Amino acid sequence: MNISIFGLGYVGAVSLACLARDGHRVVGVDIDRAKLALIAAGKTPVVEEGMVELMAAAVASGRTSVTDDVRKALHETEISLICVGTPSSANGSQDQSAVLRLAEEMGRALRQVKHTHVFVFRSTLAPGTVEEAIRPIMERASGRRDGEGFHLCFQPEFLREGSSIRDYDKPPFTVVGANHAYPVERLRSLFGHLPCAFHQTSVRTAEMVKLFCNNFHALKITFANETARLCDALGVDPFAVMDLLCQDTQLNISKVYLKPGYAFGGSCLPKDLRATMYLARQHDVDLPMLSGVLPSNRIHVEQAVEKVLASNKRRVGLIGLSFKTGTDDLRESPLVALAEHLIGKGMSLTVYDPEVHLSRLLGANKRFIEQHVPHIGNLIRDDLDGVLAESDVLVVGMADAKLFDKLRALVREDHVVIDLANIPDRAQWRCSVEGLCW
Ligand SMILES: NC(=O)c1ccc[n+]([C@@H]2O[C@H](COP(=O)([O-])OP(=O)(O)OC[C@H]3O[C@@H](n4cnc5c(N)ncnc54)[C@H](O)[C@@H]3O)[C@@H](O)[C@H]2O)c1
Repeated sequence: MNISIFGLGYVGAVSLACLARDGHRVVGVDIDRAKLALIAAGKTPVVEEGMVELMAAAVASGRTSVTDDVRKALHETEISLICVGTPSSANGSQDQSAVLRLAEEMGRALRQVKHTHVFVFRSTLAPGTVEEAIRPIMERASGRRDGEGFHLCFQPEFLREGSSIRDYDKPPFTVVGANHAYPVERLRSLFGHLPCAFHQTSVRTAEMVKLFCNNFHALKITFANETARLCDALGVDPFAVMDLLCQDTQLNISKVYLKPGYAFGGSCLPKDLRATMYLARQHDVDLPMLSGVLPSNRIHVEQAVEKVLASNKRRVGLIGLSFKTGTDDLRESPLVALAEHLIGKGMSLTVYDPEVHLSRLLGANKRFIEQHVPHIGNLIRDDLDGVLAESDVLVVGMADAKLFDKLRALVREDHVVIDLANIPDRAQWRCSVEGLCW
């Protein structure tokens, strides 16, 4: 394939060398003449393991060329990978000036290009940038429309400096955000051979995935380092702790607890976080990331309250009360917190939870509910029908397939359902079903 690469920094230079190695003809474009001269001479502009040999071989193959002429690059190629930098501005926003300037230039150059060109943005971009900022610039400058005269798509780059050639050859996955089949098919023939899954998504999802993969990496490093800081203060070996923690691939290093939904609660997580924060305070250890967890969790409960209030209906049916489906444990249940807030706001509340039988509650569990919702006995109904009849807005906090089926059959068209439990096929319900934050 004939490919142009805009921006010959870490991402662009490695991509140029790897694509030429794989037999493609590659035109490298940069505004930095020094980088162009280095590559033309078979030298690498970035320090990366294996790049000296790879770049020398790529250039010696005769399959590479470099230029600062955007029009020439578009003329000679059918697909462009855009890898220019998107650093931070002083206020923390993404500085997109290089990519937007380039979009303008590429759009103008497109006026003289006859073929259907595919533009693949590989720079990390804030969600919405391709469709809301780049597309209008390129459509205006080119006089052509995205999806007709050219194609825009976003394919995040996952390589890491230091192991970039290995990562290029074995990425965690390929994600292509596109609105048309043509660019996906072109990228599949370019990257489909890599030993990883190939996913097609919306452009915005692909932009967001890249940002949040990096956020997740930063969060993991910070988690390990905050753990280590407290370990150090307590005389515990942080390596032994983190090594064992990572060996649990059932609950820790797994998909578990990584699905968006409602707030967490229960008799363990909140209290153990509080105990951790107390220990940290006692030893003068700052753990800002962990100390933000409970406040963030509270915001999730507040958001559920606001969602119910926004429905403008006062009769609320709460489906589920315990902290987790299938248990009667009410301690620190975020659904109990929601019930408390709603009662406080003067809503009329009824509750159904098949596992919660007040007469059978014992000990701390009983004390908790008596303290937080003293008149809960008057609110609890034995069956779903009772709750449905007495409510106009239903908050579904229990994840149970049979319950979803039953509810779906029983809801009225005028019910508003607020889904805290990831109900599948929401669009097929006869009434409006809204998620907590989507
Ligand atoms: N460095 C990484 O490991 C890595 C990994 C994945 C994604 N990314 C993302 O990829 C993008 C590029 O990162 P990088 O580290 O390679 O950046 P870099 O700063 O090393 O290189 C960017 C290059 O773009 C060039 N450039 C600027 N304006 C240009 C224009 N109008 N036309 C042509 N070239 C132009 C610059 O001269 C520079 O050579 C960023 O958005 C970054 O967030 C980087």
